Amino acid sequence: MTIHLKTAEEIERMRIAGQLAGEVLDFVAPRVKPGVTTGELDRLCHDLIVEEQKAIPAPLNYAPPGYKPFPKSICTSVNHQVCHGIPGERVLKAGDILNIDVTVIKDGFHGDSSRMYYVGEPSIQAKRLCETTYECMWLGIREVRPGAFLGDVGAAIQQHAESHGYSVVREFCGHGIGRKFHEEPQVLHYGRSGTGTRLQPGMTFTIEPMINAGKPAIRELADGWTIVTKDHSLSAQWEHTVLVTGTGFEVLTLSAGTPPPPKH
Ligand code: MF3
Ligand code: CO
Ligand code: CO
Repeated sequence: MTIHLKTAEEIERMRIAGQLAGEVLDFVAPRVKPGVTTGELDRLCHDLIVEEQKAIPAPLNYAPPGYKPFPKSICTSVNHQVCHGIPGERVLKAGDILNIDVTVIKDGFHGDSSRMYYVGEPSIQAKRLCETTYECMWLGIREVRPGAFLGDVGAAIQQHAESHGYSVVREFCGHGIGRKFHEEPQVLHYGRSGTGTRLQPGMTFTIEPMINAGKPAIRELADGWTIVTKDHSLSAQWEHTVLVTGTGFEVLTLSAGTPPPPKH
């Protein structure tokens, strides 16, 4: 078990990759509208990443052991889809909620971030789930400092989600990130404070809670990638890439359009 502590030069490159990921999420926001397909959003993001950012969309052809290559450049997960939705012919309609997950590689380093988007006006329940999940992510981020435990991050997220009657997806977690898309450590979004890996300056990892309005159980669709809630309840997710600094944390995937952190 080795967690790579990034050097100052590596951190500088992670900041650049992270900002680019955030900028893709900004760019796509006004294009999420009723009538657009997830495949069109993928194409727009792909072209921005490749033509303008001169970066690489990390999901494209990504094939961890046991998976077939991911065929698109971003993940688009709608309503009861939890994560890893494959962009395609699906037409977005008013009232849908959508997670867009962007990972870019720039100068050898990864930046990974996702946000929730509303297509038209969301239901009150959908809006509340998305907002509470955003709070979960930030409560996790705010636990990050040298000497804290990864269990502190998971416990903060789990406590907030469950206090709203929601559940935390267990099968997927945040992850170390750097030259590799997914590296150590695993960042669970549930757990007990004071347990797990101790944080050290120079660690970089994602915090990306997947929160279901209903039960935590999931299943994988026949496409081999898309994860959905078993009970068809709505699911939401937000993701940032963070650095452990000497005194706390730095979010590496901020951009002009990042929603303001919640007050509590
Ligand atoms: N971006 C996702 C994450 O946050 C991983 C997507 S893998 C893909 O870890 F192949 F589906 F793109
Ligand atoms: Co991630
Ligand atoms: Co991601």
